[in-house]
Amino acid sequence: MITHELSLSDTTYRLLKEFIYRHCGLFFDDGNKYLLERRLANRVALHQLRDFQEYYYYLMYDKNRAEELNAVIDILTINETYFFREVPQLKAFAEEILPEIAEAKGRAGERSLRIWSAGCSTGEEPHTVAMLVLDSGLFAGWEVEIFGSDISHRVLKIARKGEYGPSSFRCTDPLHRDKYFTPVDGKWRIIDPVRRLVHFGYLNLFDSSRIALLGEVDIVFCRNVIIYFDKEGKKKVITEFENRLKTGGYLLLGHSESLMNLSTAFRLKHFKHDMVYQKA
Ligand SMILES: C[S@@+](CC[C@H](N)C(=O)[O-])C[C@H]1O[C@@H](n2cnc3c(N)ncnc32)[C@H](O)[C@@H]1O
Repeated sequence: MITHELSLSDTTYRLLKEFIYRHCGLFFDDGNKYLLERRLANRVALHQLRDFQEYYYYLMYDKNRAEELNAVIDILTINETYFFREVPQLKAFAEEILPEIAEAKGRAGERSLRIWSAGCSTGEEPHTVAMLVLDSGLFAGWEVEIFGSDISHRVLKIARKGEYGPSSFRCTDPLHRDKYFTPVDGKWRIIDPVRRLVHFGYLNLFDSSRIALLGEVDIVFCRNVIIYFDKEGKKKVITEFENRLKTGGYLLLGHSESLMNLSTAFRLKHFKHDMVYQKA
């Protein structure tokens, strides 16, 4: 496949990046032209198109444009993830947030727990959440629902399969791995009691009408996702989380992410191990 002769003009770069931004919030600034050029050159060659401008028209008007857009998303999204990522925050979740929710709901006679992992990639995050819920022993007999969503079909396929290689376990205590996985062909498969708590679905965080169908949740995990959006995109997505969370519900962002200048609907709650946003 000869791709090195293709070059992306400034005009077509602007058209492509705006199209991608409008679709899913992924933001490419002026310094990222070569990145987009490098990553999409194979697609131009694959469809035997002359240049990036033809590729832009293909994405806009071809009968296979939806499929092609999925391929672009698979190529452009960063899907890095692993089990038990960001331990202090998970300790706050397991040792303080879960007991608090179990107690409050127990008092109100409610026995359901709903958690959304938004931008879950290959599923390590929602599976970690499920393991911690099971470890807590607080929700036996409750209706527990953990929903992992992502915009990339490729990662969701892996998440649904539930089989993981060594790099997913870089922060996992071997005790947890032995308790919740079985070895298969050099990989580890998540066991059914964890799998039963988690389901996966395609969801674009910029698709308000589909997000509204989720109903209310107690906790949102959205870690290492909004870093790829600009300020306006971050605000939009945070408003979606605000709308989906129950009053007093928690929003867990990645450790490099904050709501500063983005939203006043949340307050930072201090726990022993970490600080977490709570819907006021
Ligand atoms: C770096 S991964 C984070 C995975 C996990 N949350 C973690 O912290 O380990 C970011 C994920 O966000 C997803 N993503 C990016 N833009 C999205 C959008 N508009 N809607 C839904 N998911 C999106 C990507 O496909 C990717 O899998």
